[in-house]
Amino acid sequence: MLKKDKFEKLLNILKDHKVDGCILAPTCDTEYLTGLKSYVCERFQGFVALADGRWFVISPELYYEEWRETLGEEAHIYVWSDNDGVNGTFEKAALDYDLKDKTIAINDGIRGVDLLDMKEIMQANFVNGDKMFEELRLIKDEEEIEYLAKAAEIADKTFEEVIKYIKPGVTEREIADKIKELLIEFGGEELSFEPIVASGPNSSKPHYNDDKRVIQEQDLVILDFGCRYKGYCSDISRTVFIGEPTEEQKKIYEIVLRANETGEKAVREGVTAGEVDNAARQVIKDAGYGQYFINRTGHGIGLAVHEAPYIKGGNDQVLKTGMAFSVEPGIYIPGKFGMRVEDIVVVDGDGPRVLNKAPKEMTIV
Ligand code: CO
Repeated sequence: MLKKDKFEKLLNILKDHKVDGCILAPTCDTEYLTGLKSYVCERFQGFVALADGRWFVISPELYYEEWRETLGEEAHIYVWSDNDGVNGTFEKAALDYDLKDKTIAINDGIRGVDLLDMKEIMQANFVNGDKMFEELRLIKDEEEIEYLAKAAEIADKTFEEVIKYIKPGVTEREIADKIKELLIEFGGEELSFEPIVASGPNSSKPHYNDDKRVIQEQDLVILDFGCRYKGYCSDISRTVFIGEPTEEQKKIYEIVLRANETGEKAVREGVTAGEVDNAARQVIKDAGYGQYFINRTGHGIGLAVHEAPYIKGGNDQVLKTGMAFSVEPGIYIPGKFGMRVEDIVVVDGDGPRVLNKAPKEMTIV
C-alpha cells in the first residue's frame, strides 16, 4: 500500500519546490513511500507522482506482480514488455497525464540514458531533484528511530563478540566474515555495507577495501560495519589494539575519542550540521593533527547508509529532532596508521541520543 503520510510529505516537497511532478527510480525513496524494495537495473521502473496528488507506476512485466501486490488494486501501473521496450510507455504516460512542457524532478536513481529518452519522448522539462528528495527521508518518525536503534544494538553486540576473535595470525578477511555471521545471528536482515577491517598500515585508508593482511602483534585494527533492521541501517566504527599500544598511539586515540564525544555533545536542535563538524574537527586541529582528518565528520543514515544530513564544514542545514547521522572523526597518517570512532546519533530536542552503546575506552586484545 502507498504510505499515505509519507506520500503527503512528497506532495508538499513538490509544491514547495514549485515542480509539477516527479519520477523516482526504485531507490530508498520508493522503498520509503511504498515499502517495496527494488533496484535500478537496465529495465526502467519508475514511481511517478504529480503535485495534484495523482500518481502511477511504470514497470517492466517481470516486476509487475510485486508492484501490484505492494500497491493494491487502486494503483495505475503501466506495464511494458522486453520485446516492446519502455519508450512506447513513456509516450502513452506523457499523453495520458499531460506531461508535455511540465516541470518534472527526477531522483538520483534515474539513469542518464533513460533521462535522454524520456526527454525526447515526453518533452517535459526535467530538473535535478537530488536535493529536493533529501528532505523526504530527513526527519525520522518514532518507528524509524526504533528500527535504527535496534540495528545499532545488533552492531554493538557484534562488536563485543567479534573482539574475542581478533588475534595475531588471523586475516582481515576472517574477521570480516565473523562480523557478517554475527550481524545476521543477532537479528540483522542483511549487511548495510561490506565490513571494513583495516589493520596495521592499512588503517590509514578510511575506506580500505582489501582483506588479505594477517593481523600481527602491536597492530591496531579499525572495524567499520553495520546491518539493516526492517530496512534501517546501522554503521559503527571502533579501533582495537593488539597488545600494548605505543605512547603516540595512546595520545592519538585519546584525541580521536575526545573529538567523537565533543562532536556528539554538540548535537542538538537548532545548531547546524557544519557546527557539529566544526566541534569535532576543532579538537583534532587544536591537538595539531588537523591535516590528518581528511573526511567529513558524518553522514545521515536511514534506509540508505549514506543520506542527508551530511555533517561537513560549511553545511548550514539546521538540525531538527528526528534527524539521524554518524559522528565519526578520525586521524589518518599515511603509511603509518589511522584511527576512527563512530556512533550513530539522533537529534532529540535539546541534546543527542547516541544509539550505539559499545564501549569506546581503549580496547586492547
Ligand atoms: Co559511517
